Amino acid sequence: MSTAAIIPAAGLGLRLGGEEPKAFREVGGESLLVHAVRGLRAATAADLACFVVAVPAGTEDDVHKLLEPYVGSAVLRVVAGGAERTDSVRLALELVPVDGIDCVLVHDAARSFVPVEVIERVVLAVRSGAPAVVPVIPVTDTIKRIDPGGMVVDTPDRSALVAVQTPQGFEPNLLRRAHAGTVAGATDDAMLCERLGVTVRTVAGSEDAFKVTRPRDLILAESILSERRT
Ligand code: C5P
Repeated sequence: MSTAAIIPAAGLGLRLGGEEPKAFREVGGESLLVHAVRGLRAATAADLACFVVAVPAGTEDDVHKLLEPYVGSAVLRVVAGGAERTDSVRLALELVPVDGIDCVLVHDAARSFVPVEVIERVVLAVRSGAPAVVPVIPVTDTIKRIDPGGMVVDTPDRSALVAVQTPQGFEPNLLRRAHAGTVAGATDDAMLCERLGVTVRTVAGSEDAFKVTRPRDLILAESILSERRT
C-alpha cells in the first residue's frame, strides 16, 4: 500500500503580493511548489506513489513540466483548482487512484518546508489506524473569541489550544465521504471529518511547517533553507 499526496496550490496569495500565484514564488531559486514536492518525496517512510496538484487554471501544462523531474517514479496529475481551497482539494481528490492507496495526505504548497519527520509521523499514525491525523504546535498568543462588534466574548484556556498545520493525513474513503458532504465554512479537511463525527488524532508538528503567507515569511523561508543547505 502507498500514499497519495494532494497539494492545493491554486491560491493567488494576495496577502503575499507579487505578480505570480504564491506557489510559484521562489525561495533559494526554486518555487514554493517544488520545495513542497521535494519535501514530500524525501519522506521515504510515506512511500508516495501519486501526486495530485491543484493549480491556477491555465498553468496545468507548465506545472506538469516543472514538477516531472521531482516526482521520481510516482504518478503526477495536475488539475485546475477551484474558487476555495476545499474546491481545489475536492477536484484533486477525484484524481487520486482508488486502488493501492491506504493514506491520502493533503498538504498546502505554501507549507513548503515541513520537516520529513512530521510527514512520516502523520502517515504512520494513519497506517496505525487513525482515520484522520493533523500535525499541531502549541499556540503562543492568548486567543480571544470576539463578537461582531469587536467585543471580547471569552478567553479559551490556552493550554487546550493548538495551531494546525499540514500535511493532514486521511484514510482515503473517509476523505471522499468528508468532501461529499457540506463544505461551507471549512478551513481545513480535518474539520470536514469532524462534521462526520470522526475523532481526529494529533501528532507533533514543527515551527518549520509554517505557511508562507505574508512577505516577511519569505525571509524566514530563505533562512530555513540556508540553514538546511549548510
Ligand atoms: O490562502 P491560503 O494560504 O490559506 O491557502 C492554503 C493553500 O491552499 C495554498 O497552498 C493555496 O495555494 C491553496 N489554495 C488552493 N485553491 C484556492 C485557495 C487556496 O489550492 N482556491
